[in-house]
Amino acid sequence: MTNLSITGYGDDLTINGIRIGDLTPKEHENIEKEKGANNYSPLENVVVSHVKDSSTLIARKPNPNDISTFIEEELIDGLCCYSAVNHGQLNQTIVDAVIQHLSNEKLPTVPRSIRHKYMCAFLMAATAITKMDRVIPKVAGVEAPELMFKLSRKWGYEVKGIPQDEAIIVAAKGNFHGRSMTAISMSDDPSSFKNFGPKVPGIELVAFNSIEALQSLFEEKGDRIASFLVEPIQGEAGVIIPDESYWKKVSELCKKFNILLAMDEVQTGFGRTGANFAHQLFGIKPDLMGCGKAAGGGVIPVSFVAGRDDIIGLLTPGSEGSTFGGYPLGAVVATYAIKVLIDEDLAEKAKKRGKQLMARFQAMKQVYADKIKEVRGKGLLTAFEMHNEPHLDGHHVSVELLKRGVYAKETHRSTVRVAPALTISADQIDRIADAIDDVMKSL
Ligand SMILES: Cc1ncc(COP(=O)(O)O)c(C=O)c1O
Repeated sequence: MTNLSITGYGDDLTINGIRIGDLTPKEHENIEKEKGANNYSPLENVVVSHVKDSSTLIARKPNPNDISTFIEEELIDGLCCYSAVNHGQLNQTIVDAVIQHLSNEKLPTVPRSIRHKYMCAFLMAATAITKMDRVIPKVAGVEAPELMFKLSRKWGYEVKGIPQDEAIIVAAKGNFHGRSMTAISMSDDPSSFKNFGPKVPGIELVAFNSIEALQSLFEEKGDRIASFLVEPIQGEAGVIIPDESYWKKVSELCKKFNILLAMDEVQTGFGRTGANFAHQLFGIKPDLMGCGKAAGGGVIPVSFVAGRDDIIGLLTPGSEGSTFGGYPLGAVVATYAIKVLIDEDLAEKAKKRGKQLMARFQAMKQVYADKIKEVRGKGLLTAFEMHNEPHLDGHHVSVELLKRGVYAKETHRSTVRVAPALTISADQIDRIADAIDDVMKSL
């Protein structure tokens, strides 16, 4: 028999006599380092305990007077789980839907080999909000680009007539599509693929925001290219927004060469950039679109691929599937995540609060011109990039922000992304900006 005892809830959750609520931030860190994998380097000396409201985390920090204990402090969440919590933490409509579903409706999990009554609700809502013909539900964000990659190849062979096993998928330099083998094969960041090779073949990288580079690649290899799989705004790369006319030209070029435009909106979707989906900002429509993160309403992982009938319609039984993709609870949560996106007009909120935050960023750029090189943003997907100098370090800025009650995190060395919940208040935006201003002053 295994000698393991698990009891209690919350702080009373106790594993073999060790009560979670008794652990200091350092003890949490030690257990994670010893028993987990060291594939993240979370901010030190802070552990999130729970949330206070839609944009406020309650975090535990060491007690300066007694390091064997901790204190609790409020943190404004300037990152919202990398845009997974666009709806705000514990959005009441979504929480009510989950509780109602589990307590009263009572259908958490059945497989796809038998129909359940919530799938059609999800499909009707998801096709309507995306204005696409068909939708396939998945779970993790990375599964969306992964499936778009597969669909592109299948369409390339079965419709475009690319010779077997010769299909090419074009991706953009600086992209981030997740951590699956396919996603890291598209990456040009060595830390993501070193010693995980060989990479998935049939991928070509092209400079992001260069229509000339794309055109010359299409001219050279267009008959074997199935799709251009790309983020509308590069999130992890540091909120890189292409020129205003770029997407229109890309869309025309794709049509001219009979190449699919497959957009990864895992980070940019669900209102984040001031439109329901970022491609709408640029007046184009992709052939395939992948969503994740906020598609799960900030409570469970949900992702999906939406797209054209003649592409998604190529799938046949056995060619694609997932145990939890579109399972009843996932289907209900995703349906309500879409309902809240519309009812609470999250895109409009992102536009309004994003304008407020960007105005503060622009002002700071003037005052701290020697420190801030560029500020970028669409809606509430924003970032400021510092000059490349040793004392202007993004990690240091994140640590300093934490001391001032704000959680935001660097992406690459000198860029700090700020992407709070779309429900954030005007006052909380000001508090984030005040904290950044204060940190800039101190550098
Ligand atoms: C554009 C994009 N695609 C895919 C992913 C992967 O999502 P997940 O980490 O949920 O698998 C991310 C995550 O940051 C992302 O930003």
